Amino acid sequence: MSILIRNARVITASDDYQADIYIEGERIQAIGKGLNVRASQTIDATGKIVFPGGIDPHVHLDMPFMGTFSSDSYATGTLAALHGGTTMVIDFILQTQGKPLYHALEAWRGRSDGNCYGDYSFHMAVTDFNESTRKEVGQLIEKEGITSFKTFMAYKGALMIDDGQMVGLMQEVRERGGMVTVHATNGDMIDGLIAKHRAEGKLSPLYHYLSQPEVTEAEASGRFVDLAHYTGVPAYIVHLTCEGALNQVREATYRNQKVFVETCIQYLLLDASLYEKNPEGAKWVMSPPLRQKKDQETLWAGLNQGLVQVVATDHCPFQWEQKMMGKDDFSKIPNGHPAIEHRMELLWSEGVQKGRISPNKYVEVTATNPAKIFGMYPRKGCIAVGSDADLVIFDPLHQHKLSASNHHMNVDYSAYEGWEVQGKCETVILRGEVAIDKGEVKVKKGYGQFVRRGKAGKVV
Ligand code: URP
Ligand code: ZN
Ligand code: ZN
Repeated sequence: MSILIRNARVITASDDYQADIYIEGERIQAIGKGLNVRASQTIDATGKIVFPGGIDPHVHLDMPFMGTFSSDSYATGTLAALHGGTTMVIDFILQTQGKPLYHALEAWRGRSDGNCYGDYSFHMAVTDFNESTRKEVGQLIEKEGITSFKTFMAYKGALMIDDGQMVGLMQEVRERGGMVTVHATNGDMIDGLIAKHRAEGKLSPLYHYLSQPEVTEAEASGRFVDLAHYTGVPAYIVHLTCEGALNQVREATYRNQKVFVETCIQYLLLDASLYEKNPEGAKWVMSPPLRQKKDQETLWAGLNQGLVQVVATDHCPFQWEQKMMGKDDFSKIPNGHPAIEHRMELLWSEGVQKGRISPNKYVEVTATNPAKIFGMYPRKGCIAVGSDADLVIFDPLHQHKLSASNHHMNVDYSAYEGWEVQGKCETVILRGEVAIDKGEVKVKKGYGQFVRRGKAGKVV
């Protein structure tokens, strides 16, 4: 099987030029103007843009959480991702406290193996670090290609680890060549505020937001950055939302420390005023919560300053009925929102189209940096001879509206209902196969492969 894409405007993290791209099998074979090759399929991309397939390094598919499961399976979630130009996701395995890491890996494999349309990998969330889990870290890196280890500084009693465990894990991961990532919020402080609001009968979604003030994230981010500096481990903060937290990272650069930062599309585009709606505000109950307009400005600036390297989604969808488990108590609303399908188009429309970020920055934060940071570059995240042919053919003039009535995610509401978007992922190619063509699915469930990752990158 071979594909020739003619007359594309090719955008990468560094370049922007007109060319043809020739794909043979799973890989890009040639790039150049007026390529003299024959292919089994030719796609005319005149007027279109071609950029690398998106990599979303923060999604939760079919995940047991807060007494239920996130509503997208590996099939529906990776298919929705492909519709939206994301060809690969990195999902999270959650260790059960008291059980081995491998026990969780087997459970996650049971749900994901053979079910994905798009490519995928896993981070391992270590929720109980002890002498036996220590031994598994090296095995996961060397044998399984799982090279990033997620920690939670919140969700006490389920996922949170203490600072002693954090330091132990960091030392082991550093030794083995991996990376530690973190959900950085102060769990004890948040639990105290939740208890206070509940005792006062303050139970609407607004109090989810008011239980996680900016200081809870800034403090934990600073603490994590300090521990990473002490241990020397490559470190990555997931879903960073606010000025106070980013300033902790900025501060660390003064002592020449490098900490990678991910924000998510919702923190760039949505703000906390949505929590005033009751019960509708439950749609946006996530942790950390949406913040203020000034935080959005900080995050856009952070992207352009190179302090924020990745835009992900933290896709963790729940049906409205599941959200309504917390109709009388915000602390019981399953945390998370659906976005896996919309990240690429929203960031183009709101970011590039509106002049907030350049087209090259767009590719950098949606594909190239995730590939570099998480040990997949240059196989993934770029358009280069020899790289996987994971490509999006994007129509920058196509305007459309986001809605639950036309999205592909398994969730009965849209967090972006009615948003007008300029630009559409028209054709999506994954490892040399057209996966989506003008809304039509061309690959089968199971086409998506598990990607074994190399040691996590220390620089981008
Ligand atoms: O609200 C969120 N973010 N749900 C998913 C779990 C997490 O903290 O990332
Ligand atoms: Zn989190
Ligand atoms: Zn998450």
